[in-house]
Amino acid sequence: MGYEQLEEAAAAIADLSGRKEHSAALVLGSGLGDYAAALPNAVAIPYTKIPHFPTPRVEGHSGTLYSIDVAGKGALVFSGRVHFYEGWDLFDVVFGVRAAAMAGCHTVLLTNACGGVRRGLSVGDLVALSDHINLTGQNPLIGANDKRLGTRFPDVSDAYSSALRSEMKMAFDAAGVAYKEGVYTWFTGPSYETPAEIEMVRRMGGDLVGMSTVPEAVALAHMGRRVGAISLVTNLAAGASNQPVTHEEVQEAAELAKAKFTQLINTLLPALISEPVSN
Ligand code: HPA
Repeated sequence: MGYEQLEEAAAAIADLSGRKEHSAALVLGSGLGDYAAALPNAVAIPYTKIPHFPTPRVEGHSGTLYSIDVAGKGALVFSGRVHFYEGWDLFDVVFGVRAAAMAGCHTVLLTNACGGVRRGLSVGDLVALSDHINLTGQNPLIGANDKRLGTRFPDVSDAYSSALRSEMKMAFDAAGVAYKEGVYTWFTGPSYETPAEIEMVRRMGGDLVGMSTVPEAVALAHMGRRVGAISLVTNLAAGASNQPVTHEEVQEAAELAKAKFTQLINTLLPALISEPVSN
C-alpha cells in the first residue's frame, strides 16, 4: 500500500541529488518557500522528476526539493507542499515527508503560516509547536497498517520532540528571535475559521490554527522520526480583530518575516542534522 512507491521515491532522491543519504528535512510553509532559493550549492530537484511525488496544484509553482550540505551531512528542503483542502488523499499529503524519512532523515522540521488564537500573539511571531489538536476527523494512518512504516497504534504524546524543542529554544536565542511555544489546531480549510470556531479553539487550549502540518507530524511519529514544527503567525485568527482574514495578508506577513525566518532556520539546521540522543 505504497511502501514500494516510497522506496522508489527515496531511491530517486538519492540518485538525483548524488547523495546516498540525508539526515534531516525541512518543509517550508506557505509564503516561506523562497528560503531555499538563496541556499548556496543546493541541488534542485523538481518534484515532477521524483516518481509518485504529488505536485502542488496552486500558485503556479509545482514544487522543488533541494538537497543541501549542512556541516558535511545532507539535508532536504521541500519548497512547495500539497494540502488536504486541494483534494489530495492524506497518503499523498504525507508522501514527501515519508519519502524523506526513507531517504535517511531522522529529523524533520515542519513550518507553516497560521492564525494566532492565543491573546498576546502578534503577527510575525514564530512559535514552536508543543502539541496539536486535530479537529478534522481525518488521520493519515487510517487504512491498513504497513508494519514496515510503524505500529498500528503509535504514541503521539511527544509528537513535537521536547528534546528538539530545547535545542530550538537555544537557536531562537542565538538568532535573537523571541521563543514562544503553542498548541496548533488543524482545520481542513480552505475556508478560514468562523469567530465561534476560534472561540472554541481558545477555550479548548489551542493557541494557533492552520490547515497543514498535523498529518505530516502524525505520519512521522508513526515512523519513529523526530519532529519539530514552527508556525509563523501571519494574521490574528477570525474574530480577534474586526478585519476579515485574507490570503493576501497571510502572504504579506510571510514576506515581512523572511529575514527573521531565514536567520532562524540557518541557526537551527546544525541542530536538526545532529543525531537525536534518544528517541
Ligand atoms: N486560519 C487557518 N489557516 C491559516 C490562517 C488562519 O487564520 N492563517 C494562515 N493560515
